[in-house]
Amino acid sequence: MRLDKLLANMGFGSRKEMKKFLKSGQVTVNDQVVKDGKAQIDPQHDIIRVSGEQIEYKEFVYFMLHKPQGYLSATEDLRDKTVIDLLEPEDQIYEVFPVGRLDKDTEGLLILTNDGKLAHELLSPKKHVPKTYYAHIEGKVTEEDVAAFKQGVTLDDGYVTLPAHLSIIESAPVSKISLTIYEGKFHQVKRMFASRGKKVTYLKRTAMGALELDPSLKLGEYRELTDDEREKLKNREGVEMNESRGTADS
Ligand code: URA
Repeated sequence: MRLDKLLANMGFGSRKEMKKFLKSGQVTVNDQVVKDGKAQIDPQHDIIRVSGEQIEYKEFVYFMLHKPQGYLSATEDLRDKTVIDLLEPEDQIYEVFPVGRLDKDTEGLLILTNDGKLAHELLSPKKHVPKTYYAHIEGKVTEEDVAAFKQGVTLDDGYVTLPAHLSIIESAPVSKISLTIYEGKFHQVKRMFASRGKKVTYLKRTAMGALELDPSLKLGEYRELTDDEREKLKNREGVEMNESRGTADS
């Protein structure tokens, strides 16, 4: 790729600004000063330095964020803080976006990437990527709820949900549950419980596909996915579903 494009992508300025920047002689490729923005670079092999400091070029980045409440799953908003505000400036240059949405008051695992293809695959309704949530529910969650979720429940707009796996951790006036769903309708978990006359008072996503939220990440913290985690996401995103509304095969 062109050197000016690479530097612009890395946040050193616009393609136009790169002309002046390169003229200043601050950029070396394999220890040779390069002033021509059109110079072809192999980002995997060439060593690029700006003012003597080596820069690492990555086309795609993948972050795991432990989303706190109070942040929108969006890249910008006029009123509210977004999950992008949680990133360090040096990571904001990659122009990542959240893969899917968690509500403003939902916590937990959110993947941020600039890899549109992966995001598309993870969000494709055909892929049935499982998403697991931990929640507190006002009211006693019962085995009838477990059976109803397994069967599919009718949401407020008439949509019948795919079979979902509900586990009761504690059935009490405020119950604690874990729920795995294989689709991602708007406010799905809250609406599924609403269909059973129950209210979600706390919601946290703990897993997406084969990827689990790293328990060492505090609220608001994030890190890059490891190579293994990235492969997990790419290779085992979804599960086969019986489209005639049977059960998930996994
Ligand atoms: N379901 C919801 O109701 N909210 C979320 O944020 C995610 C799933």
